[in-house]
Amino acid sequence: MNDLAKKSNLQTAPLEDAIARILVADDDKLFQELFKDLIVDMGHDVLMVDNAMELLEKVKEYKPDIIMSDVVMPGIDGFELTRRLKADPQTMHIPVVIITSLSDRAAKVLGLECGADELLNKPLDETELSLRIRNLLKVKRFEDYLMEHGKLLSSEVESKTVQLESAFEKIKSGYIETVTRLTLAAEYRDKETGSHIKRISLCSQLLARYYGLEEQKVEAIFFGSPMHDVGKIGIPDSILLKPGKHTVEEFEIMKTHSVIGADILRNAESDILKTAGEIALSHHEAWDGSGYPYGLKGEEIPISGRIVKVADVYDALRSKRPYKKAMEHKEAYKIMFELRDQFDPTFLNAFAECEDEFRRLFDENQEM
Ligand SMILES: [Fe+2]
Repeated sequence: MNDLAKKSNLQTAPLEDAIARILVADDDKLFQELFKDLIVDMGHDVLMVDNAMELLEKVKEYKPDIIMSDVVMPGIDGFELTRRLKADPQTMHIPVVIITSLSDRAAKVLGLECGADELLNKPLDETELSLRIRNLLKVKRFEDYLMEHGKLLSSEVESKTVQLESAFEKIKSGYIETVTRLTLAAEYRDKETGSHIKRISLCSQLLARYYGLEEQKVEAIFFGSPMHDVGKIGIPDSILLKPGKHTVEEFEIMKTHSVIGADILRNAESDILKTAGEIALSHHEAWDGSGYPYGLKGEEIPISGRIVKVADVYDALRSKRPYKKAMEHKEAYKIMFELRDQFDPTFLNAFAECEDEFRRLFDENQEM
């Protein structure tokens, strides 16, 4: 017995002295009496009914191992009864025996065509009947075993699938947590905060979803956008942490953070890190071609970069810097439209449509 069988205690019952439950339909009362005595003498359980409809009513309650039926009965005949039994998933596995007269060859052929498993001749031969019952019981027990085994296998597969899904979710959340913490480590030297990273992530997700990107891409933008400034790790402290405005030369060095970030994330294999690399490189490109590092224009800029650009500029406008005060939402909104040439119009309009949500995400995600 394999592990699965042991677990369920499944086994085919020994057939010596096995007791079968036999459901029989025949309208002949005399035959019923004789047949019942014969079956009981063999040690089996039997339930006799007068017609096919009655048999169909009893079958699910009595749960027979074998069904036997006469051909001609009031109402539907033995052939139609067999067809119905074999068409019902709950009864199709129960062996059906059609009892015919010895001479009726056409009935025998039709009985087999309808799905009958065996044919028995009237008058019945006691030895043959006993052997047929034994064989059919063997078939039924084996079918029962396979059905139970199949059910158990399905439930094992289901439970393993749930375990795998949960393991996958744990690995994924561990991966995301690692990425978030490494991003925070990279940002640690900068003035930016964990809240800024969270806001960029939430606002970019909002725009991506509003635009109707597929959920997998929305997720990649949500988890990839926090790494947009990861390249700042390569900018010297004297420039990165300078309290005032940068000189032109210093600003040129600051601008290299997008290429450094893309280099750090180059050749990534996961969707999230690929998207993160795309965003790191393109989040300072501008729709009108005035951005950096490559001065890409319009749709040359990856969609993820166009999205994060909107979120990043809005967040910068609303945040306090050593050289500027924080703006209220209304003022930031106005400036966004003054800078409209820099943004993909689709995402600037989406920003306008979702402005209340942008305001809420900014206000609700501040440092404690
Ligand atoms: Fe940046």
